Amino acid sequence: MIFYAWCMRLLNNAFLAAAAGVVALSLGAIDAHSQQPGGAAPASTPLAPPPPPQSSRLFERFAVAADHPLASQAGAEILAKGGNAVDAAVATSFALSVVRPFSCGIGGGGFMLVFLKAHPHLAVDPKGEFFALNYRETCPAAIGPDFYEKLGEGAVAAARTGAKAVGVPGTVAGLLTALEKWGTMDRATVLAPAIRLAKEGFVADAAYAKAAITELKPRFERNPEWKTRFAFTWKRYLHEGTLAAGDRIDVHEQAAAFELIARDGAAAFYTGELGAAIVETVTKDGGVMTAADLAAYAPADATPLRFAFDGAEVATMPPPSSGGMAVAQSLLFLEQVGARRVIETHPTEPGGYRPQYVHLLTEAFKHAFADRSRWLGDPAVVKIPLERLVSREYIRERAARFRPTGTLESSAYGTYPEGEAPPAEALPEDHGTSHLSVVDAFGNAVACTETINLEFGSLLAVERFGFLLNDQMDDFTTVRGKPNAFGLLQSDRNLPAPGKRPLSSMSPTIVVRAGEDGIARVQIVAGASGGSRIITGTTQAILNAMLFGCSSGEAVGRPRIHHQWMPNVLEIESGYPGTHNGLDSALWMRKLHHEVKTPKSTPNVQLIQRVRTAHGEQWDAASDPRKGGAPAGE
Ligand code: DON
Repeated sequence: MIFYAWCMRLLNNAFLAAAAGVVALSLGAIDAHSQQPGGAAPASTPLAPPPPPQSSRLFERFAVAADHPLASQAGAEILAKGGNAVDAAVATSFALSVVRPFSCGIGGGGFMLVFLKAHPHLAVDPKGEFFALNYRETCPAAIGPDFYEKLGEGAVAAARTGAKAVGVPGTVAGLLTALEKWGTMDRATVLAPAIRLAKEGFVADAAYAKAAITELKPRFERNPEWKTRFAFTWKRYLHEGTLAAGDRIDVHEQAAAFELIARDGAAAFYTGELGAAIVETVTKDGGVMTAADLAAYAPADATPLRFAFDGAEVATMPPPSSGGMAVAQSLLFLEQVGARRVIETHPTEPGGYRPQYVHLLTEAFKHAFADRSRWLGDPAVVKIPLERLVSREYIRERAARFRPTGTLESSAYGTYPEGEAPPAEALPEDHGTSHLSVVDAFGNAVACTETINLEFGSLLAVERFGFLLNDQMDDFTTVRGKPNAFGLLQSDRNLPAPGKRPLSSMSPTIVVRAGEDGIARVQIVAGASGGSRIITGTTQAILNAMLFGCSSGEAVGRPRIHHQWMPNVLEIESGYPGTHNGLDSALWMRKLHHEVKTPKSTPNVQLIQRVRTAHGEQWDAASDPRKGGAPAGE
């Protein structure tokens, strides 16, 4: 209770700080306008960025938390029209394709986790049912296990930039399949907000400017030939390197893509005009994806990974997400070693994390990432003993290895498939992902994470239709023994093969809890972007809400830690709360033999939870303040 009060106080302070920011930004806006009689700014003058809307809010009936305010509003618009959570998630995702072009879009792929309790046409178990849809990109038929290795020195670059990096996109098929299976509205209705946004364009915010200018522009400067090769990206998305927050981005061509999708469905993308434009674009840049690859694409139904944690039921994404398994293993490890007791009994400053808890969490992540590295791949191609990997018996054995006063040898984390060589080590980071959480007025929920992989994906745009193609091929083990862009070491189980899907860290997760009537109700909907940090970010936000009683704003806003087993480094975000005997967490962890550093970036989490307030039960929805998103709802 005291801790909850502390969280609320911190949150209030955050609101005050945000409000101060709003005032400062509004004054900036007044200033800009005062130079122009009538308030009209000349086309060449960037408008002051709009004040950031509140990153967390309470809602009575329904809520959408996306990582861009306009995308959340697109979803809320659909919910206000009577749509369900799936209709809203689809509308939000199409809107994100416009306003978060560096994160996701129709040239990418994703995972959707659905909790359905009520539907006007489907016979749904009123106790609630979970569904999962895997619309991750697939490997083109011409790419086999040694395709990249044969490129020699150019292998890593080819898997990350340009046409050879592009996996067959899954987002359009995935969204339309979800809409047909579990939605209630037609394509035109859910696409309307995205069509409007594409026609209007949107204003670049701070997160956009960071991805475009701080992160991507230096790559263009190091490779000046890209300015011609990826001319659309350089001109439209970076304004030839001059872009600043507040500039308007024009991607009106994407409206034509959406209109074709609204008219002809997935066929427009996979066998129609859009598909032809994709193949032409990829071929021109030396890629190998064909019309047959696109025509063969189909999303895959998946069985959600479900487990009990802290008296609730958690559902998350199964492989080829590694995120679900890693979130499950981490939470189960914490339960097994009695994290709740540790939190309640060891002293630290109010609202801080106990060093013992930080140590437990770190060790949980190390085991989970070690198993991720060695066991996982596309379940359609490799055999994964998933049930065993998340069984209590298996977790109990690893909990028994836990040492309160130190760490283990790297090789002692996780387990090895018999007869398979362990992968070696490394780490960097990025922005090509977006997570959205939705709850509707009927008791349904959607957690959906989508990605084009690195910021602005492969940088290759389908110019006629104004969208970017992913560089998801880098999520495969493209060169054996070498880590991918996120420093993740992966085994041969994740080698590319025709039609195969690369391993992903995306971890859309829904927690439900049975009430006194025995009926499950949505408690938390969460997920994140941020490469390998998706897993640790999602887990910590859920723990903050469930074990620490934080509000949603606080659960996603608090500084976090990250450890991915290899490299053997513990990242502690600056401002990480909690000291004990005058020592902060970094010092404590060093005492326990962890190598500690401050991360360059952290994941972005969107979380909605059911809370009891003075006005009864409400939805507390939060978008991660680090990316500038804001929830919407009613
Ligand atoms: O699926 C994955 O795990 C990666 N493609 C995710 C990339 C990502 O999150 C980039 N950053 N925000």
